[in-house]
Amino acid sequence: MKYRSIAIDGPAGAGKSTVAKELAKKLNYVYIDTGAMYRATTYKAISLGIDLTNPYSYGFLENTNFVFRSGELHMDGVNMTVLNRLKEVADNVSLVSSHVPVRNKLVQLQQKIAKKNNVVMDGRDIGTVVLKDADLKIFMIASVHVRAKRRYEELQSLGSKQTLEELEEDIQRRDAYDSSREYNPLKQASDAIPIDTSDISIEEVTDLLYDKFMRKIKGE
Ligand code: DC
Repeated sequence: MKYRSIAIDGPAGAGKSTVAKELAKKLNYVYIDTGAMYRATTYKAISLGIDLTNPYSYGFLENTNFVFRSGELHMDGVNMTVLNRLKEVADNVSLVSSHVPVRNKLVQLQQKIAKKNNVVMDGRDIGTVVLKDADLKIFMIASVHVRAKRRYEELQSLGSKQTLEELEEDIQRRDAYDSSREYNPLKQASDAIPIDTSDISIEEVTDLLYDKFMRKIKGE
């Protein structure tokens, strides 16, 4: 059986995860938040006290279990939703996700999930690397200010004390890092549809993508 897939890429805060989650719910597909896997890897690396700068110190990934339940990542049986939002994790995730052995391992796990499920997957390299033949590829963008504001609201609901200014700086720093890293940088796939979400609501984007996908799979 051939499973279907939707790839959603774009910078932090463009609305990818909310849209992907809603879309997956509407289609009854599995939502895979690949950023959560890089964050959880960062959390575990910090907890183990390994040298984060050494690309070869991530052998623990061979014995790490990642499971998505209702859109939430559980690592080694622990729900990572709150832990993944810790500041130490945000501060180090770009470094951790720049390591080739880390990327290779996580990409392999993501591809394995997509081979056995219909998925909506979001991240930075889904359309370009992980699911090169996805049925629909979307590249979502939005202004830095709008993106920081969205993350601020999301973090507030999780009890974070980070300010809007700090988040704007954090987003700019991570954008620069994620787009300039040598291996699998954030880049729009040539066959991805670009969508700017600065001035349209997340609900509108979700409906738009749902219609695009339905038309695509009906061959219109
Ligand atoms: O989507 P997010 O902000 O939770 O992602 C966290 C970090 O992980 C982000 O700085 C870039 C990295 N990432 C990546 O390199 N590749 C992916 N497919 C997803 C995330």
